[in-house]
Amino acid sequence: MNERVSSPTPTEAPSTPRFYGLRTAPDDRPRFFQHLTEKWGDVVRWRFLFDVYVLNHPDDVKRVLSAPPERFTKGTTDYRILSLSLGRGLVTSDGPLWAHQRKLMQPMFHNRSINPFDEPINRLTSAMAARWAGLSATDTLFMEREMAQLTFEVVGTTLFGADIKQHAADIAEVLESINVSTQEVRSFLLLMLPWLPLPHTRRFNRALKKLDDIVFGLINARRASGERHDDILDRLLEARDEDSGEGMDEQQIRDEVVTLLLAGHETSSNALAWTFWLLSQHRDVEARLVAELNAVLDGRPAASSDLAQLPYLKQVVQESMRLLPPVWAVARLTHQDEVFQGYRVPAGAYLTIPIFAIHRHPEYWPDPERFDPERFSPHRTEPRHSYSYIPFSAGPRTCIGASMAMLEIQLVIANLLPKFRMEVAPGARIETAAKVTLTPKYGMPMRLTPRAAAQP
Ligand code: HEM
Repeated sequence: MNERVSSPTPTEAPSTPRFYGLRTAPDDRPRFFQHLTEKWGDVVRWRFLFDVYVLNHPDDVKRVLSAPPERFTKGTTDYRILSLSLGRGLVTSDGPLWAHQRKLMQPMFHNRSINPFDEPINRLTSAMAARWAGLSATDTLFMEREMAQLTFEVVGTTLFGADIKQHAADIAEVLESINVSTQEVRSFLLLMLPWLPLPHTRRFNRALKKLDDIVFGLINARRASGERHDDILDRLLEARDEDSGEGMDEQQIRDEVVTLLLAGHETSSNALAWTFWLLSQHRDVEARLVAELNAVLDGRPAASSDLAQLPYLKQVVQESMRLLPPVWAVARLTHQDEVFQGYRVPAGAYLTIPIFAIHRHPEYWPDPERFDPERFSPHRTEPRHSYSYIPFSAGPRTCIGASMAMLEIQLVIANLLPKFRMEVAPGARIETAAKVTLTPKYGMPMRLTPRAAAQP
């Protein structure tokens, strides 16, 4: 660790050699960032194709994320790649457009707006459980795919109500093609040389066109019908600027819809798959959680109002997202010279906030690789640095869907875990791969045993 002294004259940050980590696969970036900070300290200038400043200390993370958003923007390559599909929706926009949209959309994600989503979440989860009940003990399913399908159905239903049904399969298919990894060279080529007729670029463009046709079709049909469904699309169509009274134009609604579809589904599905995997590896934690769920719910699905009575469920989810945060890093661009821990970072520099590594910072997380939901016990007395745990980021650009994600993840676990004991299929290798989100590299093959027949 470098000494964190504030020197009157800023010095150059500790630097890696040029092209350091060239042989590290993009999939392994979360551990690679952790390695950089262990070797060079909490501020590292990673000299790769261009320079990236890695900020690993919660104090610096706080300075960046709590600053007015125009001071550290999203003009980095990662977000420019994402904006090819998301357009100028909330995740990828900056400046006045972002501020305007965030203000318009914030009320759509307040607890009173999202708590009624417990009904569709439970309905869709119970349908999945009914399908699972038909499996035999030797059938293997891929948990990450099951969860991706479920969370896609959930976000699709909360956005489009029943209208999603006829398009669900098509949207799910094209989303996979447009959801390109920001870490791969071919995505970089897609951004820089979009006219090159590479197979990846052509597939991307075809999928994007198909998605736009469906989404614009859904928006226009809803407008034309004049019907109300009380889903997020209704709220996007009805949102009006306080002063001008103006609503969003078609393109902006499309960008927000596609942003919510992507931001709201893969993140939650990976959080769920990883939590089920961790529980299968820690039977003591699982037993305590099943006992809590049975005591409070006695076999029925949880409503949003039950969650306050299920503290251990929340602790398990929080600890799962500490160890395996679905969003494993966020990036920002500086616009003026900055100083972090006494080190100079120039204007125009790329910053990386390595969430995966910060969640293992030795000053804040003793024995960081251990899965221990007690870390989040409400009875803990020691204060914790609020920026040492940031699965949803923090500050003005914090995840707008955090409460919805927590609701969904907890309800799905509360519904499925008392019914099924999950076990990794024999011989399976479970490892992480850093795509846009942290996914299981070789999938997550699992076998299920109905709980009544399982050992406690
Ligand atoms: C476990 C699930 C989730 C995780 C871990 C997660 C994580 C995050 C993180 C870390 C950011 C900040 C990104 C950045 O600064 O670049 C973010 C932003 C965002 N998330 Fe989530 N998210 C989750 C679920 C959701 C859901 C369910 C939705 C909506 C349905 C959603 C919508 C958004 C949006 C729109 C933003 C951009 C907010 C802004 O900049 O104003 N997310 N999320």
